[in-house]
Amino acid sequence: MTAATQDYFNASVHERDPLVAQALDQERSRQQDQIELIASENIVSRAVLDALGHEMTNKTLEGYPGNRFHGGGQCVDIVEQAAIDRAKQLFGCAYANVQPHSGTQANLAVFFLLLKPGDKVLSLDLAAGGHLSHGMKGNLSGRWFEPHNYDVDPETEVIDYDELERIAENLRPKLLITGGSAYPRELDFERMGEIARKAGAHFLVDMAHIAGLVAGGQHPSPFPHADIVTCTTTKTLRGPRGGLILTNNEAWFKKLQAAVFPGVQGSLHSNVLAAKAVCLGEALRDDFKIYAAQIKANARALAETLMGRGVRVVSGGTDTHIVLIDLSTKGLIGKQAEDLLARANITANKNPIPNDSPRPADWVGMRLGVSAATTRGMAEEELRALGNIIADLIEAELSGTADDAVTDAKAKVAELARRFPVYACES
Ligand SMILES: Cc1ncc(COP(=O)(O)O)c(C=O)c1O
Repeated sequence: MTAATQDYFNASVHERDPLVAQALDQERSRQQDQIELIASENIVSRAVLDALGHEMTNKTLEGYPGNRFHGGGQCVDIVEQAAIDRAKQLFGCAYANVQPHSGTQANLAVFFLLLKPGDKVLSLDLAAGGHLSHGMKGNLSGRWFEPHNYDVDPETEVIDYDELERIAENLRPKLLITGGSAYPRELDFERMGEIARKAGAHFLVDMAHIAGLVAGGQHPSPFPHADIVTCTTTKTLRGPRGGLILTNNEAWFKKLQAAVFPGVQGSLHSNVLAAKAVCLGEALRDDFKIYAAQIKANARALAETLMGRGVRVVSGGTDTHIVLIDLSTKGLIGKQAEDLLARANITANKNPIPNDSPRPADWVGMRLGVSAATTRGMAEEELRALGNIIADLIEAELSGTADDAVTDAKAKVAELARRFPVYACES
């Protein structure tokens, strides 16, 4: 073996690529030192990381277990079949495609399966918590199909199901979609399934954000009401970046396999399939139910603390991992609050709230999510502390004393981060 080959196979990223290695090290420290409140994030297990970083990434395959275009797929067949079996068991459905490279790809495959260009799609408005892959103008889903939205009730900020029914009956869309990235309340799948059937629409539930809550028994299941379900394996499900598609419809499933490959994807991501199998196996364990219940308790503790400090929480609370706050009553915008929290090592994102400005720079909302903090082991006490830290920062910003408040908040965050370490933590 030449020295170059030996180096290629054995030198670490630190030895071969200092620039990338340094960024990786800094990212590891960032994740340890900051408190992550971005609602779409979480922290995967060491086992998931092991699978993601495995040599299985070298394997190129197309097709499905037992029916591949390339040879040498026997080990990937094992992990893909495990992911399929576990997804079906976890979500109580008959068929699963575990290959989508992302949640957006999963939705695209469903569009490819069920719709023709120009068909009408009815989904939750983006400012009310919807997702761009459900018909936003900038996304293929909104360019090649005809997007329409339903909204939340302006008073309760909960989906207005009566209005949705009226819109669906008038519009008669081909596809009704529910689910989103910033909707903090429980979704009434039964009601929406009935609305879809009455309107002659297929019903897609995109449970990307809440899949872990569904898996852990903390949110009603979309089955048997949904015709088809998509999700990401990130977020509350606590797995690698990727998507799943689930259904009970046998006739659709055969076409769905073709809609994913070769419809919208080529070869599969072998190592990610292994990581998906690991995370789905983890979600079948009893301790996942405890984690899912803790997520909800933590989100409530955060929402109640913030409301108790005079911060308006959209819809007056939460049934999920998400707490969406409205900063307009405090005279702030989302970007200001995001920057303020970042100075104190708390990561969150500005977000539209119902009826917010279409311009991100003017959004008055901020989305907080407790999944990553819950995975670190934080419970209600810590989430109440975080709520108070956030409220202190907001008040200080208003009274012109932000610098002192940031210093104080940073020390409290550092102490929390030390008490709840990630990865190479000592037990
Ligand atoms: C509801 C919903 N669907 C789909 C997606 C897209 O997932 P991805 O980023 O993996 O494409 C997201 C991501 O935030 C989401 O919130």
